[in-house]
This record gives sequence, C-alpha cells and structure tokens, in this order.
Amino acid sequence: MSFPTFVKMVEVSPRDGLQNEATLVPADIKIAFINALSDTGLSVIEATSFVSAKWVPQLADNLSVFQGITQKKGVSYPVLVPNLAGFKAALAAGVKEVAVFTTPSEQFSQHNTNCTVAESVARIAEVITAAQANNIRVRGYLSCVLGCPYEGEISPYAVADLAEKLLQLGCYEISLGDTIGVGTPAKTKILLETVKKKIPVEQLAVHFHDTYGQALANIYVALECGVHVVDSSVSGLGGCPYAKGATGNVASEDVLYLLNGLGIETGVDLKKLVSAGQYISNYLQKQSQSKVNLAVTASTMNSKK
Ligand code: HMG
Ligand code: MG
Repeated sequence: MSFPTFVKMVEVSPRDGLQNEATLVPADIKIAFINALSDTGLSVIEATSFVSAKWVPQLADNLSVFQGITQKKGVSYPVLVPNLAGFKAALAAGVKEVAVFTTPSEQFSQHNTNCTVAESVARIAEVITAAQANNIRVRGYLSCVLGCPYEGEISPYAVADLAEKLLQLGCYEISLGDTIGVGTPAKTKILLETVKKKIPVEQLAVHFHDTYGQALANIYVALECGVHVVDSSVSGLGGCPYAKGATGNVASEDVLYLLNGLGIETGVDLKKLVSAGQYISNYLQKQSQSKVNLAVTASTMNSKK
C-alpha cells in the first residue's frame, strides 16, 4: 500500500461547522471567514446550505453569504441542498456546484430530512437531473456510514450499495460521513474495502468526526486504502443538529499537519489555516478544538515574547 501524493482537502466549516452553532453568526462574519479560508490554498470550501430555515436557522442567510464572498479563481464553493427547492434557490444565487445527502439509516433520514431513504434518493435524482441541465456539478454525501445515533450499527454493504446508487445517478464524488464519530480504524478499513468493490476509490472522499478521538487514525487508514479526498473543518467546528452527541468534524489544521508529516501535497498553508480557525473561534468565543491550532498559536505567541 502506498499513500497518495496529493490530497484534496474539502473545507466544510462554513456549512457543516456553523450549522450546529446556537449563536447566530452574522453574514458579514461568515463572509470574512470564507474569504480568509479562500486565501489558504484550499480548493474546495462548502459555503452554506440551501435547506429549510426552520430546520437550520443558522444558515438562513445563505443568499447574502454566497453572494457576499469574493470567489477566488480555482476555488470551488459548493452548497448543500436537500431537494429541488433548495437546488433552484442555489442556482438563482449563482452556485456552480451543489452537494446532496442521504444515509443508509432509515431513522436518521427521518430525523434529518423528514423522509425515507428511498424518498431522499428520489429527491436527489430530481436535483441531479436539474443540475445536469444547468452544468452544475453534484457531490454526494452519505451520513452515519459507521454508526447511527438511532439505529446503531450500519452495514458496510448498505453503504456500498447507496454509494453506487448516487454515483449511477450522476454524483462525481461520494463523501462517506462518520457523522457521530464512532468509527475506528478497523471498521474504516472494512467499510472502505467493501465500498471500493462497488465504486472506484478515485471517486471516494472521507468525512470524519472526532467524537471518540479516532478521526486522524481513521484518515490514516483511508489514505492507506487509496482515498485522496478528505473533508475537514477548521478548529474542529461542527456537528449535525439532527445527530445528538456528534461533536465537531475533524479539524482541518490537524489533518493538514498529518498530511504534511507524510509528505503529501495539499497546496494549503498551515499558518493561514490556523489564522482562519482562530478568527472563527474568537468570534464564537470558543477555544479551538484543533490541537495543531492551539500548538501553533501558542508557539507563535511565545516567539513574539
Ligand atoms: P419538511 O418540513 O418535511 O418539508 O422538511 P416541507 O416540504 O413540508 O416544507 C416545509 C417548509 O420548508 C416549507 O415552508 C417549504 O417551502 C420549506 P413553509 O410553507 O412552511 O413556509 N422548504 C425549504 N425552504 C428553503 N430551502 C429548501 C426548502 N425545502 C422546503 N430547500 C427538508 C424537509 C428536507 C426541507 C428539511 O428536512 C431540511 O431542510 N432538512 C435539512 C436538515 C439539514 O440541513 N441537516 C444537516 C445537513 S446533513 C449533515 O450535516 C451531514 C453531513 O454533513 C455529513 C456528515 O457530517 O456526516 C452531510
Ligand atoms: Mg460533518
């Protein structure tokens, strides 16, 4: 097994990170935050979601945020959409890429989108048809792939079948989400080996949460399995409002430090990433959940003394 030489880091903090914050963050802060992320060398930044504001009030300002950011050449700014209504709103806002989401867990599907898995797949099919007609790229997420807060264990075969389905419908990449962070390296390996039998590893991404402190170890295993797209969130922001107990996504700074240590190229600047993470943590008045962020910030302060 060999590691990939380049990993694409997909930054999800403005959407997956902020969606879980109880304090409403004003649009101008979100815009400044996304602009700071754009300056780090990241090539994908998930900017917001076009979901029901009743379900996720934090992102009700999606239009102002999306239209307020300064889009950097070479950077993609996908937004999450749950249905055709969300897609149409995103299209009208000028979005060039969307992300759709479903899950192998019936109960999580009900809690997160108020519909069955089959209904959510039918909504995704509608979104993809409309997206293809408008030259919009579609990324697919599967949530709760290594465990569900309502159903417990999830079969890797169910994940593989659903991933294959989304790919057949027209997603260009499938991100496998350990939404509640219960996965371990052994389970990650079994999952990826099962999914790789159905879809090419080049079209897979991993999306870990660090609830049980396993995220970096799981990413290491995913890299060994040939995965070269990793989702993360600066300062470990995040969680899912419909997955109680899910803590933040794995911190981007920690992922980048791991990748740098393995000699894997990303094009992302650690200092700038740390500074974007500090910006949003300071606004939220929360300590960064990234160990690397805290270490880099402390050593910078010491060197200034
Ligand atoms: P519903 O209540 O069943 O929908 O919600 P409805 O069709 O009955 O509509 C209810 C209201 O929402 C109506 O407005 C619709 O017009 C409106 P009203 O008539 O009451 O004023 N509506 C919308 N408004 C804006 N944008 C839309 C939209 N659609 C309907 N797109 C729905 C169904 C899917 C809309 C809802 O359940 C929803 O928005 N769910 C999204 C929840 C969410 O965003 N969860 C977090 C994202 S997934 C995640 O975080 C996991 C992931 O990050 C991976 C990981 O971390 O592992 C991807
Ligand atoms: Mg997440």
